[in-house]
Amino acid sequence: MQDNDLLASSAMYLHGKVNLELALLMILPGQDQTLRDMLGAHRPGHGLAGAFYTDPDIYALDVAAIFERQWIFAGATCEIPKPGSFITLTIGRSPVIVLRDRGGEVRAFFNTCRHRGFKICDAAKGHTPALICPYHRWTYRLDGTLANAKHMPADFDPAAYSLVPVHTRVVGGTIYICLADEPPDFAPYQDAMVRQLAPHKLETAKVAFEADLVEYGNWKMVMENSRECYHCATGHGELMRTFLDIYDFANPQDSQPIQDYWNKWDAAGYESRISEGPNYRAARLPLTGSSKSITMDGKPAVKRPLGDAPPDAYGSLRWVHYPSTFNHCINDYTVLVRMLPVGPEETLVTTKFLVDAEAVEGVDYDLDTLTKVWTVTNDQDKALVERNQIGVRSSGYRPGPYSPSLEAGIIKFIDWYRTKLGEYLERAH
Ligand code: FES
Ligand SMILES: [Fe+2]
Repeated sequence: MQDNDLLASSAMYLHGKVNLELALLMILPGQDQTLRDMLGAHRPGHGLAGAFYTDPDIYALDVAAIFERQWIFAGATCEIPKPGSFITLTIGRSPVIVLRDRGGEVRAFFNTCRHRGFKICDAAKGHTPALICPYHRWTYRLDGTLANAKHMPADFDPAAYSLVPVHTRVVGGTIYICLADEPPDFAPYQDAMVRQLAPHKLETAKVAFEADLVEYGNWKMVMENSRECYHCATGHGELMRTFLDIYDFANPQDSQPIQDYWNKWDAAGYESRISEGPNYRAARLPLTGSSKSITMDGKPAVKRPLGDAPPDAYGSLRWVHYPSTFNHCINDYTVLVRMLPVGPEETLVTTKFLVDAEAVEGVDYDLDTLTKVWTVTNDQDKALVERNQIGVRSSGYRPGPYSPSLEAGIIKFIDWYRTKLGEYLERAH
């Protein structure tokens, strides 16, 4: 590759105008090097170039380098309460089934038949005593082993054709999976969230409501939008009735209301402080004024609490884990949000509302009160993401600077993303 070519491609990149396919053609062989150069040319504290939000090649790279290597939030254990209960999801190009086996363990498998690769299970959730591929009826046990394959020769060894397993971890009632052969270290996040989630008792919850929202924006655009409340004042009137914007406080630990709130959780013997690592952050913060829940009027949406919050400690545990989830535990309900990439400019955002398993709809809660704020907020965010995507797709887009205070969460996410992509390219080189 000539220096001039590199300069030209870097200049195109910096101006957000790069056509990656063209750039790759210009410099082949050496695609990895060009992408590394593009990452290296990133201006710290600024948005990514437009190609990172639109280009099919970079999208494929994101799937391979991020979603097929990192721990991905799959769902809640209460969604698969009994042996044979399952949920399915698709991570990039890979359908996965998550189930509870006969021994009660949570397991996950690639949802791909070992015969000719058919997608075995098409339902989003359900219950089954065995996994039967509908194509030629190869039948798998809940531990993934092949139980039955008719019309195969005498020397056929079923033991060699178990479903391909996917790594699984359970964290305080939530399930994470990793498609990589060797998953990254999950222990720091797992340890932190086991402590943070302990009072919320998500194992004793049920899903009261679930909604899928397709956002026509790149997955990073969705994550970025979730990482700042800079837009909350103008974009989220309903949410901001009760939601405390942490960035109102330069140092949360120096805020008396936050200190008082944390002290209540400390006194109850629970984790109260912020937990943070390169790919996650969990913070427990009070709500505004006399609000007791994140609802339109600040009153609890559910009569039965979900978990064990100390008396008069009304707030939310909000946490993010890159690249797939951001969540809120409030004293009466929890909202889990999972985002999965569908295409370069399409992301599936699934929101699940968890309430105590004993709570009865129509008696202890009504769905409209429970879901209103988040349904409105999610719709607002979808509109923001999609309009942002349109602007970034433009040949006139130039990556701008993030606010170091109000958009610190985005800066952290983009740094992590660039690091992970860089590591992948380094390994692939
Ligand atoms: S592809 Fe599954 S049984 Fe043939
Ligand atoms: Fe938002």
